[in-house]
Amino acid sequence: MSAPNKSFDPVPVAALQPDAIAAAVEQALAEIAAAGSLDDLKAVRITHAGEKSSLALANREIGALPPQAKAEAGQLVGRARADVKKALEARQAALEDERDAKALSEERVDVSLPWERDPLGARHPLSTISDHIVDVFVAMGYEVAEGPEIETEWHNFDALNLAPDHPARTMQDTFFVEAPDAGLVLRTHTSPVQIRSMLDREVPIYVVCPGRVFRTDELDATHTPVFHQIEGLAVDVGITMADLKGTLDHFAIAMFGPDAKTRLRPSYFPFTEPSAELDLWFPQAKGGPRWIEWGGCGMVNPRVLAACGIDPDRYSGFAFGMGLERTLMFRHGITDMRDMVEGDVRFTAAFGSEL
Ligand code: PHE
Repeated sequence: MSAPNKSFDPVPVAALQPDAIAAAVEQALAEIAAAGSLDDLKAVRITHAGEKSSLALANREIGALPPQAKAEAGQLVGRARADVKKALEARQAALEDERDAKALSEERVDVSLPWERDPLGARHPLSTISDHIVDVFVAMGYEVAEGPEIETEWHNFDALNLAPDHPARTMQDTFFVEAPDAGLVLRTHTSPVQIRSMLDREVPIYVVCPGRVFRTDELDATHTPVFHQIEGLAVDVGITMADLKGTLDHFAIAMFGPDAKTRLRPSYFPFTEPSAELDLWFPQAKGGPRWIEWGGCGMVNPRVLAACGIDPDRYSGFAFGMGLERTLMFRHGITDMRDMVEGDVRFTAAFGSEL
């Protein structure tokens, strides 16, 4: 590099020749345009705009020029460097855009694609309604009691005051379990759980017994050989039919809202005396509120208390029972029983995650 020269430098500075500068710019622009990647461009930048580039060297030569030539040379080199800088910036921006676009397209997630799904099941509405009913009674201090589905004839019939010649004991209604003289049946109702509760527990007894029951019916729109009942039993000192009625009204309101109520119609069950049919005033019925047959109930027959070792002179009790399928059908407008037994998740899922 030349030393500063305040007067006159007779040596022409080759690097500052306009042709040389134009050639350097041309060369730089060509390489910038040809740079295919950001790394390439980085190398081009070092070559053509770095400290050792020919334009940087030319810039340094300006100092050696006579003062009158400095301004012109300064402009020339300055414009050349600015052109190269501008081209570098533009190419840099273009290559960055290219890189980003490539990353966006390569790393793109197509959210519209179907994915492998394991659909969640749904609780069966019979389970949720059973839980719902149980909750209503547990809130009143009842306990849940359960019993076996294969039951002894004694628990299912005899202890409930169903004499051996009672029509319900014939083959028509009951599934008998082999051998014929084993004395075992598939329980035809949840009432044997009353018996087991009274035998197992100390009075006072307040239990609800949800469970599966069996009768020899064909499966059609209104019958199923396997269905569910829920039974309630209260045994204490001084239990009256008013307690039964009040409990059932509370139950009805808890299930069907403040306008619901119950009605008892005289009836007969061997295990209750007096016995009643239980009707529900169903406020949400399609076509307006109406009475619906809901179940059976009554005061526990003293003979049943005695069969379970409870003194009928000291204690009294009430019992009630109803079908869960039937309750679900009118509560939700289900018209075909088979929907409840076929296990089609589309039916079950329609009840959502009601818990
Ligand atoms: N167990 C009776 C039935 O299956 C219903 C019932 C239960 C009636 C309790 C009275 C008391 O039909």
